Amino acid sequence: MPQDRRPLIAGNWKMNGLTSDGLSLAEALAQNMKAETDPVFDMCVCPPFTLVAGVGEALADSAIALGAQDCHAQEKGAHTGDISTAMLSDLGCSFIIVGHSERRADHGETDGEVKAKAAATQASGLTAIICIGETEEQRDAGQTFEVVKTQLSGSLPDGAAATNTVIAYEPVWAIGTGRTPSLDEVQEVHALIRAELTKALGEVQADGIRLLYGGSMKPENARDLIALADVDGGLIGGASLKAEDFWAIAQSCV
Ligand code: 13P
Repeated sequence: MPQDRRPLIAGNWKMNGLTSDGLSLAEALAQNMKAETDPVFDMCVCPPFTLVAGVGEALADSAIALGAQDCHAQEKGAHTGDISTAMLSDLGCSFIIVGHSERRADHGETDGEVKAKAAATQASGLTAIICIGETEEQRDAGQTFEVVKTQLSGSLPDGAAATNTVIAYEPVWAIGTGRTPSLDEVQEVHALIRAELTKALGEVQADGIRLLYGGSMKPENARDLIALADVDGGLIGGASLKAEDFWAIAQSCV
């Protein structure tokens, strides 16, 4: 976590939270953030679509950014049930997660679709958090590097830059399981991602793009993970649903 990349602690609430608990969680985080005189990290929460507006209000006068978990690639039109990047921008979002492995698995999203969603996010002036990561079978078969490279090149829009792109490396087998790769394994994948970004976008952009680790990040392991040279924060699922744990993870950046 070099000085020039400000760590980002992002919470992915997934399909969790009704109005009262979602708003209480957002309010607790907002209070913590307001008490922080000079935060050395950025924080973002990505609630389900139903809570985006309410959480946005709860966070309004705090430095915590609002995000969403998915979007449609088109600006508007006949896409029943879908949400556009302009709609999310309208609600105050500044980040959109795209290509999460749960969407790739549950909705068959391809790299091409993820790329289109990321491009739409960036075209609306928002930052895309593009998720990539191997399954357990792929890791066991020694395919991690290949899978990560293919997903990255297939999902990264041409106009990607440090100001509109975050990459989250989330090994599928580490999500919600309590298992994580070793620190060396995390760093080697992040270094590979940085090297691939350098080839695709040049050194300046690649050096500026934040690479998050995601998958069973907790207060107990966050400090070591975030201290790795190419890890610039975390994308946190389960532990982002408890204000205390999520805040403790953010404090690992201090
Ligand atoms: P967990 O932190 O629950 O493992 O989830 C990680 C994740 O999928 C974040 O997007």
